[in-house]
Amino acid sequence: MQHITGRNPDRSGKTMTSNTIPNQPLRIAIAGLGTVGVALIHLVRNQAEMLEERCGRPLEIVGVTARSPDKDRGVDLNGVAWFDSADDLAVSDDVDVYVELIGGDEGDARTSVTKALKAGKHVVTANKALLAKHGVELAELAEEGGLLLNFEAAVAGGIPIIKVMRESLTANEVTRISGILNGTCNYILTRMEREGMSFEDCLADAQRLGYAEADPTFDIEGNDTAHKLAILAAMAFGTRIEADAIYLEGITKITVEDIAAAADLGYRIKLLGVATRTESGVEARVHPAMVPLGSAIAEISGVTNAVAVEGDSVGSLMLSGPGAGGEATASAVAGDIADIAKSRPGHQHGPVLGQPVATLAPHTRAPMARHEGGYFLRLQVADQPGTMAAIATRMASEDISLNSIVQRNADDDGTATIVLVTHATTEEAIRNALDGIRKDGRLMGDAQMIRIETP
Ligand code: HSE
Repeated sequence: MQHITGRNPDRSGKTMTSNTIPNQPLRIAIAGLGTVGVALIHLVRNQAEMLEERCGRPLEIVGVTARSPDKDRGVDLNGVAWFDSADDLAVSDDVDVYVELIGGDEGDARTSVTKALKAGKHVVTANKALLAKHGVELAELAEEGGLLLNFEAAVAGGIPIIKVMRESLTANEVTRISGILNGTCNYILTRMEREGMSFEDCLADAQRLGYAEADPTFDIEGNDTAHKLAILAAMAFGTRIEADAIYLEGITKITVEDIAAAADLGYRIKLLGVATRTESGVEARVHPAMVPLGSAIAEISGVTNAVAVEGDSVGSLMLSGPGAGGEATASAVAGDIADIAKSRPGHQHGPVLGQPVATLAPHTRAPMARHEGGYFLRLQVADQPGTMAAIATRMASEDISLNSIVQRNADDDGTATIVLVTHATTEEAIRNALDGIRKDGRLMGDAQMIRIETP
């Protein structure tokens, strides 16, 4: 471990209170040198002059840590101290702000952020998994220490939605927050639709471009979207964060046939995260959804994310922009660091989650069975007389009104594909009807069910 020397830091250990921004460099430690960490170093160095002008003081990267010390990352680390342990870096006396880009909800990420806050360091993190699981306890630590815990990059990459939720919409009662929150999934669905590429090839490209998580199942199974939605929902509704209360379906079962059927019906398939305030609690869900072609959300393509908020004063607003990738995410991290550089020592900072932790309400989960909306069903059925009638009967017995029902093709093996679109109904009714069709022996294989989301 090299020793770090900052330029003219205050080493007294005393709490200083000042009405001016200090002019010493802000000493930054970065843990994790993956796509985002490396992009952050380039950004802070390339924009050093501008950042100094805007922050009123220089930003200096003084220490780093990562898994492999010898890896060539295409970034010059001369003069920057290398630490073998994130925990040690987080509490180093020569560091003012600890930037956690390790990832994961436990392990080094959790211990180092906790230690940094306990040691009185401001923290910036892009770690949605950590915040979704431990965000409340970390926010509490930051509040106790009068510290900043900034996490703009954790949700929707370069889109500044956290500042909007934390500051700009404070006077709004939010009724719904929703969006496309995973760049990898949106990139995959877009390329499958436009280029007819296979799911696997699209995912490989998303990984190559640095969009995907270290474990891409977190992207494609919807967990990453759920982590981000859990954070947004807590900030929107003033509740504690409950990632486990989110209904979850990923995009791995979406086929090019579904995408084509959606287009025929005037829809496009997107992986959405939606949280709504209902009378029975918060309905929070992540699943592929059909959105009407021509709607704003349907036009969000590639790695772009979008977040839509409905507030009682502001009405409806939507922010869109790059949701993943090194540079866009580094932009959000650098903005968070700049906030810290501009802050005045000894002054209390606003609550991390938009309101003090002590005032957060418990999260009450609204049951998914009560979700209401239209449904798309694609059923592989026995191509026999009475099949269509049996399906219609099961739908009618659940009081489900059909918008359309079409037999799309009959195969040589005696099966046919039936595509149904329903008017608004409940999740419970659809699941009961599908169980009934299965019991009737009409269904061959799994049924495909995709919810229709009307903006
Ligand atoms: N893997 C994430 C995504 C990165 O694809 O959106 C940004 O959180």
